[in-house]
Amino acid sequence: MTPTIRLLTLEDTAAYRALRLAALATDPVSFHSYPDEEGAMSEAQFAARLTEPPCEGVFGAFVDGRLLGVAGLVGSPRRKLAHKLTLVGVYVTPDARGQGLARRLAEAAIARAKSLPGITRLLLGVHGTNHAAIALYRSLGFEAYGHEPEAMIVDGQTHDEILMGMSLRP
Ligand SMILES: CC(C)(COP(=O)(O)OP(=O)(O)OC[C@H]1O[C@@H](n2cnc3c(N)ncnc32)[C@H](O)[C@@H]1OP(=O)(O)O)[C@@H](O)C(=O)NCCC(=O)NCCS
Repeated sequence: MTPTIRLLTLEDTAAYRALRLAALATDPVSFHSYPDEEGAMSEAQFAARLTEPPCEGVFGAFVDGRLLGVAGLVGSPRRKLAHKLTLVGVYVTPDARGQGLARRLAEAAIARAKSLPGITRLLLGVHGTNHAAIALYRSLGFEAYGHEPEAMIVDGQTHDEILMGMSLRP
């Protein structure tokens, strides 16, 4: 399997929408929306998510032309926060896991964040028991800087998140 990692464009909107809705269904505590919340969003809204601020790019992993994973970068319109990006929506389809797609996606996102002028911090939040993702992020240079209790309530159950960040300064 030789994946292609590239930024998603408007032409990828339908595939991105399908993958995102699958992610919300298969891994509910890894993301902040319920499937019905984003299922109600139009394709145009998904297109805007890919191409308009605060999005700073969504990378896709393609194998044989199929979109099997994604990782996005989100910024802030506020000038005092404009030096920070957040890595969001990291997801690989269950049958494609364990083959390095998330690592490649995250590396591409980190490289893009580093290449953008004025960006000095990359942040993320991860479910407190998501050991696979935490191990991935640590191995890429993220460090935990906080723990948010009750970050989410999913179907009545509370979930904590670990807050991680890395400096992008040379
Ligand atoms: C977490 C997730 C993105 C990893 O995707 P993946 O493509 O399987 O990950 P990779 O194959 O690139 O593995 C990268 C690293 O993740 C860690 N990892 C991946 N699967 C793991 C597992 N089952 N147990 C422990 N560590 C694991 C390892 O550190 C691995 O590095 P290594 O290959 O050097 O050992 C994927 O499991 C997923 O989509 N999970 C559901 C959604 C989610 O949790 N997203 C993260 C939100 S913050």
